[in-house]
Amino acid sequence: MLNTFQQASHQILPQATADEAARQEFAKSFKGFIQSTLLPGLTPVYNTRVAKAFEKEHGRAPQDRRDIRSGMVKDFYFQHYAASNRIAQELLWESVNVSVDRQLPELIERARELSASTKAKLVIPEDFVPPRYVTAFDIHCMPGGYCSEVTKDDVAVGALYDRGVFLYSMGYTGPNNDDMGRSVCNYLRRHAPDFKPRRILDMGCTVGHSTLPYKEYFPDAEIWGIDVGAPCVRYAHARAAGFGLEVNFAAMNAEETTFEDGYFDLVVSHILLHETSGKAMPRVFAEAHRVLAPGGMMIHADLPPFDLMDPFTQFILDNETWYNNEPFWGAMRDMDQIALAEKVGFDRSAVKFDTAPMAVMEFAAAAEGYSQQAAEDVAERDFTAGEFAPGGGWEVLIARKAEAAALAA
Ligand SMILES: C[S@@+](CC[C@H](N)C(=O)[O-])C[C@H]1O[C@@H](n2cnc3c(N)ncnc32)[C@H](O)[C@@H]1O
Repeated sequence: MLNTFQQASHQILPQATADEAARQEFAKSFKGFIQSTLLPGLTPVYNTRVAKAFEKEHGRAPQDRRDIRSGMVKDFYFQHYAASNRIAQELLWESVNVSVDRQLPELIERARELSASTKAKLVIPEDFVPPRYVTAFDIHCMPGGYCSEVTKDDVAVGALYDRGVFLYSMGYTGPNNDDMGRSVCNYLRRHAPDFKPRRILDMGCTVGHSTLPYKEYFPDAEIWGIDVGAPCVRYAHARAAGFGLEVNFAAMNAEETTFEDGYFDLVVSHILLHETSGKAMPRVFAEAHRVLAPGGMMIHADLPPFDLMDPFTQFILDNETWYNNEPFWGAMRDMDQIALAEKVGFDRSAVKFDTAPMAVMEFAAAAEGYSQQAAEDVAERDFTAGEFAPGGGWEVLIARKAEAAALAA
């Protein structure tokens, strides 16, 4: 089926020429073709020849994703699938990069104007150093990663992410790429209708896609989006101003923020954790606990743990680790997040691990996760839609910091 979802324009979104738009559309459609046509072919290939060959060689059936991978990597069909996937990914970023480079001076100027038009804060300390697990390579093959700056007030990688991630998700996270933030807001609306956070922190906000729904849902709250990518938060600040939303952004490490103890009532993140590291993730949890007020909530929307799925699905998903510069993708899914949350002080009885899939990983179901109406008409914000569509691919870890009395006891 032809995917006709289009990204909503906004004041700082890079504009594509007809040729650029055609290349971008091709990259998006190529990804769609791989998902809908090549990917399903892996199961019969595995069942009819790879599993049998493995059994013949080892005298036993493949047991886990590593066994499956060791057989599949030798298979021509899998090689073809994996190579196509990688090429589609590289094409996607390249198709956007050309367009961002062409208009970078205008984008920088527009970002300056938009940022100057808002009272919201933008904090980028001159001596800020992002962690090595973010700068050492280009995560998910995105040229320049999240932190590269080659000119003053650079916003290039922010613009690249904004447009590129729409193509990456093939539009299934909505016209503003904001399905994850909207979904967590909807989760709160349904399950904690009386919860009215005074201050909200979005960790690893990139360009603020998921941050802005919180301002719409909690208009009186003071909201901060933080990220280690300075050009991303610079872009995020301008983008939010373009939407007329007063949201503060800062270049800050979620492992060690500069906020005072107990400052926030709600700390959220959306697909941050799997892009950190085994050492950083516990520190992010500990920092969330520190900056939360008693009774405050921490919600991380990210990848479901591997033990919730069969080995073949694990193998398919783990291809991101091997071929898409996502080194922590698989390892993160093997970690016990509930135990981690408990270790940093969250009370087990207050920790909830919901299998609450929403959008992206299983593209067919993702459309159900986002309001079709909202996808077609940005002006029509439907806050009853977009709550973790069944069959989607994300889950949320929800933890509540104990109330003051319990903390004192
Ligand atoms: C996949 S993106 C998140 C997308 C974003 N939350 C959204 O919903 O649109 C991951 C982000 O986490 C950021 N990041 C990684 N480690 C971080 C850390 N320790 N502190 C803050 N941000 C971090 C990266 O720079 C990147 O922008």
